[in-house]
Amino acid sequence: ESERLAKKNPSPLSFQDICNKLKNNEFKNVVVMCGAGISVAAGIPDFRSANGLYKQLDGYELPYPEAIFDISYFKDKPHPFFRLSKKLFPGNFVPTKTHYFFRLLQKKRILRMIFTQNIDTLERVAGIKDQYLVEAHGSFGKATCVKCKKKYGQNFIKPFIFKDQIPKCVNCDGVVKPDIVFFGESVPKRFRIQKNIDFPKADLLLVIGTSLVVQPFCSLIEEVSPSCPRLLINRETVRRFSSEFNIFSQILGGEGGGGFKFDLEDNYRDIKWIGECDDGIQKMVDLCGWNQEFDEILKER
Ligand code: APR
Repeated sequence: ESERLAKKNPSPLSFQDICNKLKNNEFKNVVVMCGAGISVAAGIPDFRSANGLYKQLDGYELPYPEAIFDISYFKDKPHPFFRLSKKLFPGNFVPTKTHYFFRLLQKKRILRMIFTQNIDTLERVAGIKDQYLVEAHGSFGKATCVKCKKKYGQNFIKPFIFKDQIPKCVNCDGVVKPDIVFFGESVPKRFRIQKNIDFPKADLLLVIGTSLVVQPFCSLIEEVSPSCPRLLINRETVRRFSSEFNIFSQILGGEGGGGFKFDLEDNYRDIKWIGECDDGIQKMVDLCGWNQEFDEILKER
């Protein structure tokens, strides 16, 4: 089986190959999947690293860390979430090189769509247009009354949060919750629609700064065509990119742990650059010869 594939795929693509193809403008539909790792350099902790957010919640008396983003827990006890919101609220953070690299892809008209799990709106702050952004887990940008569903803007809830008060609806006195997707809530309609449009058309998938453990987002990587290379830039490899895992799921007939399909081809099209996001991005910019354009964009920070 693997000899057959080795003949079919003469050699796995390398990081250098991807950059050469980018440099020669061979990719026209780059889809990005990103997570908290890209904002760590901006000063926002990620969730699951040793010093991540889920390890900083002892004083919140939670039954378990993710409860802070659980909708049923929130409806019973909204305080912990709003207390955390003070630390995460947009406005005090500057986007990173990685966010500005997305801006460069947008400028070069090869960015098809960014699917972000982040709620910090830093993609928008870096100049990514609405049409190129799917905020799969929502964001602080808007808010909704949990009782009467009245819509609010970011500026309505901000004063409450910074005065340690629960934002209350002007209509019905219900709690006004930021439009962040909590565990137990469904992902935005835009996510469900755009994923079916953009992933089949992707000619390069860039997965960056995510542990790829949260559904339905993480299984998006299987939605690209078999010929679409998948480049991971992350501090650590993740299960869905690990060839051992692919082989494992192949042995189990493709339904490896986590109930998703893989086949050996994945090993030939999965490229991993393991390290800091901003370092991986800088390396890409250097190998693509895009330094001047990138530096111009960085100057606008
Ligand atoms: N450079 C590269 N990788 C990094 C960096 C960095 N500076 N900092 C962290 N990472 C990596 C971590 O090693 C980890 O693999 O980024 C990944 C972050 O993973 P998580 O903390 O699990 O964050 P994320 O994948 O975005 O979580 C997904 O979980 O709690 C929910 O809704 C929340 O959107 C979030 C979702």
